[in-house]
Amino acid sequence: SPPQDLAGLRAVVSAGGTREAIDPVRYLGNRSSGRQGVAVADALAARGAQVTLVAANVAPAVHGGRHAVVEVVSTADLAEAMATRAAASDIVVMAAAVADYRPATGSEHKLKKTGGGLTLELVENPDILAGLVSGRRAGQVIVGFAAETGDADSDPLEHGRAKARRKGADLLAVNAVGHDRGFGDVPNALTVLDAAGDLVGSSEGSKEEVAAALVSHVADLILRRSA
Ligand code: C5P
Repeated sequence: SPPQDLAGLRAVVSAGGTREAIDPVRYLGNRSSGRQGVAVADALAARGAQVTLVAANVAPAVHGGRHAVVEVVSTADLAEAMATRAAASDIVVMAAAVADYRPATGSEHKLKKTGGGLTLELVENPDILAGLVSGRRAGQVIVGFAAETGDADSDPLEHGRAKARRKGADLLAVNAVGHDRGFGDVPNALTVLDAAGDLVGSSEGSKEEVAAALVSHVADLILRRSA
């Protein structure tokens, strides 16, 4: 069994994907299952951390009630839950897929068909991870995730490096998504960068395996800081 080197530390992990209401019965969402975030929560707990899972629309069968669970739906809910828990946590992991945009105005009533087109006005959501980084407490380790597809003329890691520098989290776990990777129950490749965008490590395997590797980097960072 893994070393209990995170015993006595508190961690909060977000998982899943936020949903933004369009009307009482419809939402804008994404395909995140929450499995990667739950795997990180499990890996932290396996090394002795006391974990709270902030679950955005994660099926109960996925989180299994193994941790203290706070259920959230929207990005605003998630931001509030994370801010509250982060204030009391040594380790903060943002594994949730956060909606970049939300409808400018939610409709109180179910939208009706008009026979014509429909234009939804969207406004940008705040960056929760950036807010957690700027409000961090001393010694806190903050981890972000970045799902990168890359494109025809750039490799996903280049985007990841730029994002690591922009976000300022201690660790950014870059996840290649698209085609057959990233979503659902499929093998994963994670590359871990530091706040300068430099390589910390990379791993491939199940979500559980890459989560364990990521948590090893978290533990290394904590160990090095206390040395
Ligand atoms: O910029 P991008 O969405 O790729 O960044 C991903 C990281 O930022 C993830 O850790 C995600 O949880 C976090 N994020 C956030 N708030 C947003 C968008 C992303 O905290 N509005």
